[in-house]
Amino acid sequence: MNQNNTKQTILITGCSSGIGLCVAEGLQARGYRVFASARKAEDVAMLQRKGLEALRLDLANSASIAAALGEVLARSGGTLDALFNNGAYGQPGAVEDLRREVLREQFETNLFGTHELTCKVLAVMRRQGHGRIIHNSSVLGLVALPFRGAYNSSKFALEGLTDTLRLELHGTNIHISLIEPGPVTSRFRANAFAKYRENIDKANSPFRQTYEAMERRLTKEGPAAPFTLPPQAVLEKVVHALQAKRPKVRYYVTFPTYLFATLKRLLPHRGLDWVLRRVSRGENR
Ligand SMILES: NC(=O)c1ccc[n+]([C@@H]2O[C@H](COP(=O)([O-])OP(=O)(O)OC[C@H]3O[C@@H](n4cnc5c(N)ncnc54)[C@H](OP(=O)(O)O)[C@@H]3O)[C@@H](O)[C@H]2O)c1
Repeated sequence: MNQNNTKQTILITGCSSGIGLCVAEGLQARGYRVFASARKAEDVAMLQRKGLEALRLDLANSASIAAALGEVLARSGGTLDALFNNGAYGQPGAVEDLRREVLREQFETNLFGTHELTCKVLAVMRRQGHGRIIHNSSVLGLVALPFRGAYNSSKFALEGLTDTLRLELHGTNIHISLIEPGPVTSRFRANAFAKYRENIDKANSPFRQTYEAMERRLTKEGPAAPFTLPPQAVLEKVVHALQAKRPKVRYYVTFPTYLFATLKRLLPHRGLDWVLRRVSRGENR
């Protein structure tokens, strides 16, 4: 319950599949009033069939963000206790093969849309005097892997924006946390493969052979990486970030995140590069 003795409200982006869907259902089962948003109309209908309060929200579109938040506030009576910024995608491809508009599109969703929605929600939270914001980042917001430059840079930017925001929000009773998942079962790889097909010109790339191996990884059935966890592992951390008196700044999920976060602190830069190159070679084998 919140300060008005009503159910805690939360808006979640990217609920069509994977982590967003799992967290939406998991929080509703725990008594939250969940506003589950998705980009496409058919996914909103699917969420409604599951008994969720669903609405459309496309992070790449400012009008969609404003309309969605307006609808949430109209339904909630003008307040919102929490926001889970989850919606995002991964654009695979070597840095040299990313056209400017492809990189921009990656940032439109993963960073600019998330930033715009967060700022609008912050105005509500400042008025009501409390709030929790949770950003779904990634282990790839902490360390880089080759052929993930678009996604890496969008998540590194999200980390920087969040670290700044946390300092600026000090003393406001609005808390912001980052979640850092490693491999989690979802539609992430299938969606990344579609973006690869749409935007990467394999035939004219110096990385043609690497891409062939990458295609096998992106289309592999079942978990493609060791230590993959189900999305419930993220749900547990979201619950902590919502309920703890002092939510953590960063929540690590999966063994690879703990490992790489530790190696980043311990190893010299070139030592870490060596490890990451080996991981990438192993992935694409
Ligand atoms: N799975 C992993 O291994 C992993 C690891 C680290 C971090 N993460 C992070 O976890 C979050 C959720 O990903 P997931 O693993 O659950 O993958 P997913 O199953 O692909 O879900 C991603 C969600 O984001 C939505 N989305 C994409 N573009 C959007 C836009 N413009 N506006 C609104 N929503 C948009 C997708 O909607 P559509 O269905 O309409 O495309 C989908 O609902 C992401 O932030 C991702 O970076 C995932």
